[in-house]
Amino acid sequence: MVASTITTIIVFFICAGILLRERKKVVRLTNLVTINNRISGKLTLPELMKEITQITKREMSCLTCNLYFVDFETNELWYENSVRIKMGFGMAGWVAEHGRTLNVRDSSKYSKQNNECSTATRQSVLTVPILRNEKTIAVLQVIRPLMGMAFSKKDEELLVNISRTLAIAIENSQLYNEALEILRESVSALAGAIDAKDTYTQGHSKRVAEISLVIGKQLEFSESELGKLEIMAQLHDVGKISIPDKILNKQGSLSSEEYEIMKTHITSGQKILSSSKRLKKLADGAAYHHEKFDGTGYMKGLAGEDIPLNARIIAVADTFDAITSNRPYSEGKTNAFAITELEKESGSHFDPQVVSALKTGLGL
Ligand code: SIN
Ligand code: FE
Repeated sequence: MVASTITTIIVFFICAGILLRERKKVVRLTNLVTINNRISGKLTLPELMKEITQITKREMSCLTCNLYFVDFETNELWYENSVRIKMGFGMAGWVAEHGRTLNVRDSSKYSKQNNECSTATRQSVLTVPILRNEKTIAVLQVIRPLMGMAFSKKDEELLVNISRTLAIAIENSQLYNEALEILRESVSALAGAIDAKDTYTQGHSKRVAEISLVIGKQLEFSESELGKLEIMAQLHDVGKISIPDKILNKQGSLSSEEYEIMKTHITSGQKILSSSKRLKKLADGAAYHHEKFDGTGYMKGLAGEDIPLNARIIAVADTFDAITSNRPYSEGKTNAFAITELEKESGSHFDPQVVSALKTGLGL
């Protein structure tokens, strides 16, 4: 009787143990799926790096997580844009060179053994390679103070799994960034062509893009939102390609007939961008930068938040540049003067929050 009770209790604990282990596995698996979902939408490298290190810290219960990228040209590792480490140097360098996991219980002993004069404090460091086609493209490292727990085999397994998910995300991000770079260069070339046609406003599209970015940053746009805004701003006047030079470059004011023709740069800009599936999504700037906040602008007469935010930003940047840049017939005014002018029309022509974002962004 006693024996059978003891057996039952033992069996119970074994089953409970197995169940708990399986449950933990499921939880970890669910976490990996969540990681995948959270990072797959983050396509710029800085956004991806931030998300990766945050998730890894949480999943691995540690305070520090470093993500190093391999620079194949210089044979170095880099992280946080500026810090560079020679291939083979230190734990991260060793992992990058060998493409294998390194689990170090006490980093100060590791440094001593490897004759590295290091200021390393005593901490546990787990480092895994992020591999793509058997090549180490990056290195993921987590650190716990030695006072805490050293990393177990299970931790190793989890970090290796995380690194596999990351490998795909990093490759996607690199492909995306390359495509984006090509798009950026084409857009810059196009913006240059627009600016060259308009002899009075040399470099206008480029400057409108720079000013728009000041506003976007102030409004806490993400990296990818800023990228889109920059392209939209550079292309806002693309439709001027279809405006006759004699109207575009006319000295003095336009007749009402000429002004009607000038207005068509909105519709032709929209048409030019709509011919490309991808640029179509970036047509808001070209389509709505002459709308006014009170609904009295052209071509649609949209008002308030019905005007896409990017177009409201470009409208402010456009006017700011017109006031501050030199023209053959007038000298550019100061930034402070331009802000005062914009403020006079804040709420009527311009979105007040955009005007004040520019003012703050310029430190005025
Ligand atoms: C422009 O788009 O730069 C000129 C058109 C206007 O002033 O309405
Ligand atoms: Fe315009």
